[in-house]
This record gives sequence, structure tokens and C-alpha cells, in this order.
Amino acid sequence: MGENSAMQDPRPADAAAMPPPDAAPLTIEQDVPLREHNTFGLPATARRLVRIRHESDVRRLLAHPGLGRAPKFVLGGGSNVILTRDMPELVLKVEVRGMRVVRESADAVVVEAGAGERWHDLVAHTLDLGFGGLENLALIPGTVGAAPVQNIGAYGLELADRFDSLDTVDLVTGRTVTLNAAQCRFGYRDSLFKGALAGKSVITRVRVRLPRPWQPVLGYLDLERKVAETGITAPDARTVFDWVCAIRRAKLPDPAQVGNVGSFFKNPLVSAEQCRDIIARDPHVVHYPMPDGQFKLAAGWLIDACGWKGKAIGHAGVYDRQALVLVNRGGATGSEVVTLARAIQESVYGRFGIRLDPEPVIV
Ligand code: EPU
Repeated sequence: MGENSAMQDPRPADAAAMPPPDAAPLTIEQDVPLREHNTFGLPATARRLVRIRHESDVRRLLAHPGLGRAPKFVLGGGSNVILTRDMPELVLKVEVRGMRVVRESADAVVVEAGAGERWHDLVAHTLDLGFGGLENLALIPGTVGAAPVQNIGAYGLELADRFDSLDTVDLVTGRTVTLNAAQCRFGYRDSLFKGALAGKSVITRVRVRLPRPWQPVLGYLDLERKVAETGITAPDARTVFDWVCAIRRAKLPDPAQVGNVGSFFKNPLVSAEQCRDIIARDPHVVHYPMPDGQFKLAAGWLIDACGWKGKAIGHAGVYDRQALVLVNRGGATGSEVVTLARAIQESVYGRFGIRLDPEPVIV
């Protein structure tokens, strides 16, 4: 891991190493159905599954004579994964809990959360404590531990903008390493955990940094509309939270009701020249200039323009209010989702010459 390995756990050396006094014995569950453990509700079975409730559980697992060296798959809230097969790997279900303020100064509050906490609960908890800063990221499905993997983002804010550090346990050595934002190599829906560290470590705790004084992030069109509609030009954090929840509920399906993983594709980046070409053919294409001179196109618009909204292949469909979201119409399999995704990619490529990259990990 090069420079990363120089970083040390900021807590006393033994705090992360020792099991908590009430550590439950490590149990290996057999043939566990995963439908309830992935937000798309896809059928798959884990041959063996272990719940990770503390860093020390990873180390106990690595020391296990039969399982220490078995191939492993880390599952968080299952909000960014498409399961197309049963899992012969040992599935690690991350359930590290707890949320606490770890640092407070004049210019920021740092809050730590266990990777197994629900992301939205962290957003709500920090607001209940009176700390704004995460409200634009309200209602994003999934766990705290999954948030850095794809650098979750919405309404003008990304996790990277509020990130302090995280703890990750190496799946070979069992060492806990603390990484800061630069070390996590955050990009648009991307990080080191989708690249060099994919499958090699388990994120156990994440710390967010909430700057003081709090300032709203209102630059996103949907939020500007709320300001105009309500006439509230200086909303507090709770108001922004309520707005974001309302916008998301109107546009995005609730995974508790309709299986989905949020945006299925990333918004593609194109050169200025490519963007001009597309605008010449389709003047309405939604595009945003990037600081580096490239343009980001709205993948939802491209898919919608190809006529996919509300269409389905088998039991996998395209959501009728947001073409970027694929949904489970009931009983979908992972391979139906992949077939639908490929058909969408082909038609967008055929019409616009753009390759769409899936956002979730396809297993
Ligand atoms: N659009 C259409 N038709 C559609 C969908 C979108 O014309 O079917 C147009 C919209 O009218 C809008 C533009 O495309 O002009 C962008 O749509 P939207 O504002 O809904 O945002 P998005 O680019 O589709 C991104 C994130 C979302 C995030 C929202 C809000 C990605 C891949 N997606 O979606 O993130 O909530 O912005 O910030 O970057 C997620 O990653 O799972 C996710 C939901």
C-alpha cells in the first residue's frame, strides 16, 4: 500500500486490536439467502457468511484454520451490488455499530460511525446533535462503510467534501490502517476501494468532518427550485434535509418497496469536441462543464432519449420517473438486470457513441 501503510490508527494501539469485552463468538452461517441483504432484492445464496461486528472479528477469522485463507467477499448494505450468482466465497457481512463525536474544535466537528450503521441514520443523528453538513446526502441507501467505496454524492455534495478518515482492516495481515481523504483517492463515484484495494480490505469505521460555521450547499438545480418555491433563501440544515428527502422521494424509488441500487450508470465525461458534436445532433442533451474542460452528460437523459423509461426485460425494468435507475419489478434475477443494462448500453452507444459505465459492482 506504499505511503498508506505509514498511517497509524490514531486511537491507542490496543483499542482496535482487542475484542470488546462482550464479543460474541464468531459464527459461520451456512447457505444464507442474500435476497434481504441486497437492495435490488436479487436471489443468491452465500455458502458461508460471517458477521463482522468489530475489527477483531476480522483478525479472528484470518486466524481460523479452515477459513483464514478462503476467498472473501465483503458485503455492506448491498446497495451497490448486482448479484448474478451464488457466492462460493466467504461473505463478510459488516455490522460494526456505534456513532460518536470524536473531535470538536472551533472550525469543525468530527463524528465517527461504525461501517455497519445505515448511512441515512448517520445523517439524521448528526442533525439531531445539531451538526449540519451531511444533509444533502440524506436518504442515500446503504451503509456507512459503503459510502467511501463509491464516494457517494448527491445535490452538489460528495462524501469526499465531508470526509475526515476511515479505518480499514487488511484481509491478509489483519492490520488496521487509518486512511485520510488523499489516500482514499476519491473520484466521481470512485475510490481506492474500487481499484487497488478492491476485495483486499474491510472498512470498519468512517469519520466525517463537519465544518463550522455550517453553510448550506444550494447550487444544485433541484435545490435552487426549492428556494424559489418556498421563498426561504437562508434555510437551516434541517430544512435542506427535508428538501432533499422530498426531492429524492419524488424521483427515486424506495428500495424497501421497489428493489434498486440508485443510479445504475455513472454520468459519462466527454471532451468539449464530443459534447459539441452531440449538441449539434441533439440540442437538448443535458450537459455540465467540468473544471478540467471536459463535460459531464446526464446519463438519465441519454437513456430517456433512447426511449427506455418504463421499459423492461423480464422482471428488470427502467424506473418510469428516472431512467438512470433500474428496478426490480418483482422476481428479477441478476442476469436479467445485466441483460437489460447491456441493451441500454448498446442503444446509447448506437445513438450517441458513448459507453455508459455501470455504477454498482456486478458479481
Ligand atoms: N433526466 C432526464 N430523464 C431521466 C432522468 C434524468 O431527462 O429519465 C435529466 C434531468 O431532467 C436532469 C438531468 O437529466 O436535467 C440530471 O438528472 P438528475 O438531476 O435526476 O440527476 P442525475 O445526474 O440523473 C445524479 C446522481 C444521483 C444523485 C443526483 C442528484 C450519478 C450517477 N447520479 O443523478 O446519485 O442523487 O445526481 O445529485 O451521478 C446514485 O448515485 O445512486 C444517485 C442516485
